[in-house]
Order: sequence, then C-alpha cells, then structure tokens
Amino acid sequence: MAGMAEAAWGRVMELARAPGAAAIRPLMEDPSRAARFTHRAGDLLADLSKTSVSDEARAALLDLARARGVLAARDAMAAGEAINATEGRAVLHLALRGPRGAFRAGGEDASAAVHDTLDAMRAFCGRIHAGGRFTDVLSIGIGGSDLGPQMALRALWRHGMPMRAHFLSNVDGHAWEALRHGLDPARTLVLVASKTFTTAETMANAHLVRDWLRAARGTAGDAQLVALSTNLAATREFGVPEAQVFGFRDWVGGRFSMWSAIGLSIALACGWEVFANLLAGARRMDEHFLAAPEAENLPLLMALTELWHVDGLGLPSRAVLPYDERLARFPAHLQQVEMESLGKRVTMEGAPVPRATGPVVFGEPGTNAQHSFMQLLHQGTTPVPADIVLVANPDHGFEENHRQLLANGLAQAEALLRGRGEGEVRAEMEAKGMAPAAVEALLPHRLFPGDRPSTTLVLPRLDANTLGQLVALYEHKVFFLGALWGINAFDQWGVELGKQLAGALLPELAPGAAAGAHDPSTAALIRELHRLQAG
Ligand code: F6P
Repeated sequence: MAGMAEAAWGRVMELARAPGAAAIRPLMEDPSRAARFTHRAGDLLADLSKTSVSDEARAALLDLARARGVLAARDAMAAGEAINATEGRAVLHLALRGPRGAFRAGGEDASAAVHDTLDAMRAFCGRIHAGGRFTDVLSIGIGGSDLGPQMALRALWRHGMPMRAHFLSNVDGHAWEALRHGLDPARTLVLVASKTFTTAETMANAHLVRDWLRAARGTAGDAQLVALSTNLAATREFGVPEAQVFGFRDWVGGRFSMWSAIGLSIALACGWEVFANLLAGARRMDEHFLAAPEAENLPLLMALTELWHVDGLGLPSRAVLPYDERLARFPAHLQQVEMESLGKRVTMEGAPVPRATGPVVFGEPGTNAQHSFMQLLHQGTTPVPADIVLVANPDHGFEENHRQLLANGLAQAEALLRGRGEGEVRAEMEAKGMAPAAVEALLPHRLFPGDRPSTTLVLPRLDANTLGQLVALYEHKVFFLGALWGINAFDQWGVELGKQLAGALLPELAPGAAAGAHDPSTAALIRELHRLQAG
C-alpha cells in the first residue's frame, strides 16, 4: 500500500512539474471540459473546470486517493473507530445529523445519545418560545463553540423569527461592553457554549455575564443560564440548572459541533424547523460523501483539486468568496474547520510530512472582496485559488442588485482564467488616443497573466438545508485531505502552547508585578505595558 501510494504521489508530482502544468486556458479549448468537470451533490453544483487539473492529472489524483485508501478511512470514521488517535477518540459528527440507530462509538449507541439530546433541545425551545418572556439569546463561546452557530445565524436569521441572537466570544472586555447596553437582563437567555467548560476566555465572559444577571435579578438570574458542554460536573458547579444542560460526547470535535447542542442558539433564534432543516441538509451531503464512488465524490474531488494546488503547484493559500452577504462569516468558519484541522506537520505516525499540508484560508463576501484583496489574486506574484459561491435566487425583491452580484462573481472567475494579454491592452489604450510612450510605459502594469484557478459553487437558494449541505461539503473535503496527507485532522495541539504561556503571563501583568523570565522582546513589551498603564 505504502509503495503504491508513493508511486501515485510520484505520478501526480511528475504531472504537476511538467512544463505548462499550471495552464488552464489550453484545457478550456475542449468544449466538453466544463461539463465533465462539473459535479452535483445534493442541491449543489460545483464547477471544477477552471483549474489546471487535466484528465490525466485527475486520473493520477484518483489513483492516489485509491492508493491512500481514503474510502476505507471514511468508512472507519463512520464505523466509530478511534481515528483521532492522538486523543484516542472517534470522530462522529456524522451521527449528529444521522438517523436513529445509524452510528455507534466505543460500544455506545451514538445515535441514541444524539437523538435524546435533540429531543430535549426541541422541548426546551418549545417551552422558551411558548413562555414568551425571552426576546434575546446570548451565546458565550469561542472557536468551534462560536463560529459555526454565528455563521449559521448570520446566514439564516430573518426578521420575525422567534428570538434575536448575540455572540460573545473575545475575552476583550470591549466585546461585552458593546453588547451589554443593548440587552435586558430580564429578557435574555444566556447560553454558555463550551465543550470543555474550561476555556479561559469563555469562562471569564461567563462570569461577567452571570454577575450582570445576578446584579439585576439576584441569584434567580442563574435560572436563565443554559450550558452546552461535555463537562457536566463543571456546568453544575457554575450553577446552571440541571434541566438546562445539553450535553454531547467527546467524539464531537469543536469545529464540527454546530450540529450538536452547541447549535442551540440557532434553534432558539430561528425556530426548531430551521435547525432541523440544517441537520437534514448536512445529512444529505453525508449520504453523498458515504455513497459516491471516488470519481463522483464531490468532497473528494475538491480535496484532490486542493492537493494539486498545494503540493503540485506549490500554492500556499486559498480564498473563499461567497457572493452572498448572508455568508459573511462562512470564510471565518472555514478558517477554523480547515486550518485547525489541516495545519499539521507530522503524520499520524509522528514522522514529518514530506510535503505541504493545509493552505492559508481567507475570504470575504463578494463584491466587497473585489475592492480589497482581489488585486493580489489577479496580478500578485503567486496565484491564489479561489472558491466562488453563487446563490441563484435571492430572498429579496431587488432583482437588479442580484444580477449585478452574480455578474461580478462570474466575472471574477472569468477574469482570473482568461487574463488580459498585450494585444488587447495595447489596442484599448490606443483607441483612447494615448501617446505611444504612455502606452509602452503603462502596458506591463495593465497586463493580467490569467490561468489563475477558481472553483465555482452554485446553490439554488440559501436556506437551512442548502447551508447544511455546503458546510458538510467542506467538512468532508477536510476529512479527505487529512486522509490523503496521512495527518490527524481532528486534534489541535498547536493551540496549547499559547494558552499555557498566556496563563503564565497573566500574573505578571498585574499592577506592580515583576516580569518573569522571557526573551528580550517579550520582556521589553511587558515593561512598556507597565509603563503606559502606570502613566
Ligand atoms: O482553540 C482551541 C479550541 O479547543 C477549539 O478547538 C475549540 O473549538 C475552542 O478551543 C473552544 O473550546 P471549548 O468549546 O472547549 O470552549
């Protein structure tokens, strides 16, 4: 197997290093390419044709996927095996949106645990909505306990839905300062969303908000606390009423937890049907992920395209450009899902990975992105593959705006692909009557190299179901990349050192405290902060 995989890697790299391997325009001369490289999964369409993955390269990439046994790896995950080996855990976010009886982990009926919690969450939402007292839900959490729900609420919340949702994540007191004035402690339900219930930022904010509730309502304020966590003992100690604790298991990774109790803010604010539809959409993509053969498996094809870009062509980043304002937090959510998962430098066996792994992911909604960083994608020195997300039908009546939006999304992909050559630029400037010397001087600045890759995803409309499909698509892409690279996509040891050092630094920042042993730069910065604070 290892030898086969090495040979398959070798073939991919040989093709990627061949002259002209990054060219896309010659491939586009094949009139059937767009159709052959366009795939459907659920309601989503993905056009992967505007990349330099040729038929030959795709065949080699699929051979690599087979040699790496990615479908067997997928099945091991679905079977509840402890594939997160460094933490000795199963990885079963599939169970969070799967049917009853479908998934087991560690001898437990994982689906039963999930559905019991979903039933309790649903009943709780019913009681809160029927009670009519609470108008606002404040969810305190960070990372995976914040980004997914926040992204989904931004995408799905509409006026007239049952409650308004607010998120408090940063330990920066300005975040709470900005929020608290708009909230009424008598009408705000407070969720503390934390898998571990020990995350420093979340617990600091939870204490601030509990103090705020108690200041207004005495200890009766604690009745407004809700906990979403695996650490039931800690939620009890914090004073959360037992009936308002919604648990999940350690086989739910933080960045894959928006489908668990962590998503309660979505259900409270948007209504249960919306949350149920989000899960149903994710399940629809799961069915595709679990059943489609390699050559039709969209998350796998997207993973292979990324591998081609990262390892084959040496492109270290990717932009995510949703042409839908409601998906404004989608790039931020993907940053965690992808970079916390794939930012790894050793294999499952602990050996250095002999190639590049996860790229830097960044993004903003279009068209705004066009007026900030797209210049670099068009004319910068290193190509940046872009994922462009288009939504065919809006939920507003401003048709001309929507056509402009779509035209811009399509135009960016087209411009990246075709570029702008010398003849065209020269002719345009001459037609404007520019002097020959000015034409020559400006020419290099106005050229676009083209052949810059993009993938276009199209949703019929943005609703809970299609959002669920979209998010699950990327989750599964990440899974396949982890399997292809042989890394553990489900741990995140890299976040620990900073947490530990912050804990050690904290007492040194108290007024008058002495600085500990640090590098000269950190020591000088501590002194400067003390000086400025004393002044
Ligand atoms: O930053 C690391 C991390 O562990 C993330 O993986 C996680 O989503 C986040 O912190 C929050 O953790 P918790 O839900 O335990 O508060």
